[in-house]
Amino acid sequence: MSEFYPAVAIAVVLNYAGVILVGIVVRVVKEFDKRSQTGSPLNPDVQTLTMDKFLDDIEREKPSRFTSQLLRIATDNFTHLLGQGGFGAVYKGIFSNGTLVAVKVLNGSSDKRIEEQFMAEVSTIGRIHHFNLVRLHGFCFEKHLRALVYEYMGNGSLDKFLFHSNKDLGFEKLHEIAVGTARGIAYLHEECQQRIVHYDIKPENILLDENFFPKVADFGLAKLCNRENTHITMTGGRGTPGYAAPEVWMRFPMTHKCDVYSFGMLLFEIIGRRRNLDINIQDSQDWFPRWVWKKFEPGELGEIMAVCGIEEKDKERAERIVKVALWCVQYMPEARPSMSFVVKMLEGAIEISRPSTNPFQHLMSDTPNPTAPVYDTSNGTYSTSAYDSDPSQTVTGTPIMKNHEIEIAST
Ligand SMILES: Nc1ncnc2c1ncn2[C@@H]1O[C@H](COP(=O)(O)OP(=O)(O)OP(=O)(O)O)[C@@H](O)[C@H]1O
Ligand SMILES: [Mg+2]
Repeated sequence: MSEFYPAVAIAVVLNYAGVILVGIVVRVVKEFDKRSQTGSPLNPDVQTLTMDKFLDDIEREKPSRFTSQLLRIATDNFTHLLGQGGFGAVYKGIFSNGTLVAVKVLNGSSDKRIEEQFMAEVSTIGRIHHFNLVRLHGFCFEKHLRALVYEYMGNGSLDKFLFHSNKDLGFEKLHEIAVGTARGIAYLHEECQQRIVHYDIKPENILLDENFFPKVADFGLAKLCNRENTHITMTGGRGTPGYAAPEVWMRFPMTHKCDVYSFGMLLFEIIGRRRNLDINIQDSQDWFPRWVWKKFEPGELGEIMAVCGIEEKDKERAERIVKVALWCVQYMPEARPSMSFVVKMLEGAIEISRPSTNPFQHLMSDTPNPTAPVYDTSNGTYSTSAYDSDPSQTVTGTPIMKNHEIEIAST
């Protein structure tokens, strides 16, 4: 009997120890799970756990929430700067599973009150998938870091290939890039559950993957960030000079047609492989779109081709691009085509009628019209006191969209 008591005591102690151990294990597992869900700081060696969740999210087409610590590790403490824009700086990063990413660190601080709204917007953008749109993998929303995590695009942005040293993209490839970009924008305008107006179409926001397939970047950002306060490239808080439509500068109500205008300006830059506004080029060509019209109208297309160095084999494609560009930049928004129509015209699937209205009439008139906008060639902006005085004016026939808002499609 005296030997029995110690044996029972040991069994009881072991039993309790077992229960406590199981309890601890359960709590640790729960804590890991909770942290990976909420994005609270994680130990670096728990990264794989988050990575599993990340891959799972990707499969479920849902943006992930990342911790600042994880993004710091992935970007090697934000060392490899890819570029800097109006919203903040973009850094290259790599996750432990080998996924390359571009991390856009947004300016400004994270206000707890806007967290919900931020997450709602990110979740909308993160669920939009199209071959010609840059994929948003996820985001970080912490007191000292607000960031967006995008798929990494190996060849950077189109501007490098149009205006800088690497002008080696053939015209056929440039035409493909134009078509792909138009498809991406058409998807945002016409196929998303909620229409998304980009507001900032320009070569810097057309990214190229390792095969030079184009993807439109930064859609949805206008709504996500308070551009009025952050976007340094803009005057009056809207668009980018040189690409923004007249109604943007004149405080007219804006529609998705302002993206069509900006896309038209991009097409001129593809044709000319130069910035539309280049004060270093001789006078008559300093603003390229107007020069193109002046040549196009009397039928001097040959001169446009010669000046732009377009080879014989590319002339037919180039002519198509010129015509589409002139349609896209029409002064009246309703005269501009829809983006799906633009795709068809660029592909050559439909006949393109000859643009007969001078899109720059308001800039060429000999007798200045006091209500017409004035184009300032020094900074690429329009201005007019007459339009500024009545910001509530509407453009008949087009759905009205409030500035920088994503609105339900109303076609
Ligand atoms: N996903 C990405 N992959 C590779 N490079 C990128 C990516 N996103 C951005 N970049 C690079 O970083 C640069 C800066 O991008 P960012 O969007 O901050 O500025 P921007 O496009 O010049 O102006 P904006 O603020 O109006 O969009 C881009 O021009 C591009 O070269
Ligand atoms: Mg950008």
